[in-house]
Amino acid sequence: MLIASDHGGLELKQIIVEFLQSRGIEVNDLGVHADDSVDYPDYAALVATPISNGDEKEGILVCGTGIGMSIAANKFSGVRAALVHDEFTAQMAREHNNANILVLGGRVLKPELACRMVDVWLNGQFEGGRHQNRLNKIIQLSSEDNSDK
Ligand code: RB5
Repeated sequence: MLIASDHGGLELKQIIVEFLQSRGIEVNDLGVHADDSVDYPDYAALVATPISNGDEKEGILVCGTGIGMSIAANKFSGVRAALVHDEFTAQMAREHNNANILVLGGRVLKPELACRMVDVWLNGQFEGGRHQNRLNKIIQLSSEDNSDK
């Protein structure tokens, strides 16, 4: 599992890395490893690029609120980055949106809740059907030129 954060998400990232490892999940931690101020798009790109090009299946991003990471990651083709707030939105991110990046706010979430959210997302199943039709429409949107609308 790929994971990265900026300085605002560092503390929660460390907790999630340990949580994943305790579940026997191999983690590729792409930083940050210190709390110096960095720019979150650089770390969003580290996780989103291999997912976008098909080298990796999914990942986790953490910044202070999760907002910047989700905006940045969703610029990458094929990435469905979902900023989630609780177990319900984590579950929906998998079942309805088939999110391939889970985005968390390190300054927003209690660590225990965040770990439960990761668990729910990891173990959920995409429902397909009408939800796949909606994902297809999102692909269609990105192939159209919507930049001046
Ligand atoms: C960094 O101070 C903060 O802006 C960042 O972690 C994130 O919350 C951005 O959306």
